[in-house]
Amino acid sequence: MKRKVQVGIIGAGPAGLLLAHLLKRAGIEALVVDNRSRDEIESTIRAGVLEQWTVDLLISLGLGERLKREAYFHDGITLRFNRGSHHLDFPELTNGKRVTVYAQHEVLKDLIAALPEDMIQFGVKEVALTKLDTDRPAIRTAEDEIECDFIAGCDGFHGPSRRAIPKSAIRTYETVYPFGWLGILTEAPPSHHELVYARHERGFALLSTRSSTVQRLYLQCAPKDDLNQWSDDRIWSELRQRLETDEDWSLTEGTIFQKNIVSMRSFVCETMRWGRLFLAGDAAHIVPPTGAKGLNLAAADVVVLSRALIAWYRDHGTDLLDRYAPTCLARIWKGERFSWYMTTLLHRNDLEEEFVQRIHMADLEYLVGSHAAQQALAENYVGLPMAV
Ligand code: FAD
Ligand code: DHB
Repeated sequence: MKRKVQVGIIGAGPAGLLLAHLLKRAGIEALVVDNRSRDEIESTIRAGVLEQWTVDLLISLGLGERLKREAYFHDGITLRFNRGSHHLDFPELTNGKRVTVYAQHEVLKDLIAALPEDMIQFGVKEVALTKLDTDRPAIRTAEDEIECDFIAGCDGFHGPSRRAIPKSAIRTYETVYPFGWLGILTEAPPSHHELVYARHERGFALLSTRSSTVQRLYLQCAPKDDLNQWSDDRIWSELRQRLETDEDWSLTEGTIFQKNIVSMRSFVCETMRWGRLFLAGDAAHIVPPTGAKGLNLAAADVVVLSRALIAWYRDHGTDLLDRYAPTCLARIWKGERFSWYMTTLLHRNDLEEEFVQRIHMADLEYLVGSHAAQQALAENYVGLPMAV
């Protein structure tokens, strides 16, 4: 069937759904298509930390009611190394900003529940982009051809949007890390009142939370590791060792009911626009998760994109559309830098010379002794100002 929509959005992740809400609020007609089922989207475990402005945006869109009730708001993070703990006081360092822990799939549930049903299609097969060299680009699916004024490619790293741009027009930058994260969910009460990021000679570990009864923990593993190599006993033993401290503290353990392994890369596609196709979020850039930036960068892209589309529908002005990629990239590269910094600072990388490993330890010592260095970390962690 042939259909028409003003803005066609591929991908019902944070980028696509948030864009749909921003456009809906401005009276612009948008349709989101995703190849996964609603159930799958709402149960995939990923991010946990939201920047302050992301939280403010969700609340301003009327999407923050459950978040306000159920999220955890922390006054900073703890860095742990050499068996010691160091609290970074974010409200003091950033003029009142805090860390919000609210799982990505909970954000997605809230975004999906608040969109009219006819604005989103799940389980759409054979999504392809066509007529990108015309003023009427289209999303072709197994059943429909959806003609659009604009297409937003919000379909993540593996989606079809970026690949629809001719190779000769694409400029990308990438680095792949020689480690991954094994993430678990466990039934246990919190072990600590805030997130703990630990550097240990056995590798990185991260203590996060989901609720008073469910905790989220991560540990550095090899990127090609198989989950079968990681028995529950081995996971707890590694976490205990990597989080060990001389203080009166112990890790609360429980039943592990979810495990997954993710590999880690940094990637930027500087070609974020091709004609009337605009890439946003993981479709255009990937960060390793250590800085907790991916979802937040995706949200920032679509704020910039929505402003540009709203301006175009107001008076057909193309200025903001033309500035979309450079405006986003200026902030994206800072997110890339911070994520790379946190990752190299906190992970054990045997490919690095011992000299460099000692430099990371010196960096950590410097950080916990310098207000200025803490401020630099904190202002990045809570989120740099949004592009104007
Ligand atoms: P995605 O969430 O990947 O959404 C893309 C959507 O497109 C998906 O629903 C997919 O089904 C759909 N799609 C793909 N292919 C097709 C197709 N062919 N047809 C139709 N639809 C398609 N970020 C943070 O900000 N804070 C954190 O604390 C954090 N922690 C993380 C921890 C881990 C372990 C991981 C893995 C990631 C973490 N991130 C974090 C990153 C964050 O999860 C991503 O950056 C975020 O999901 C990007 O959103 P997106 O909408 O761009 O893409
Ligand atoms: C979580 C994920 C992150 O990448 C991070 O840096 C902190 C917390 C989480 O899933 O809770």
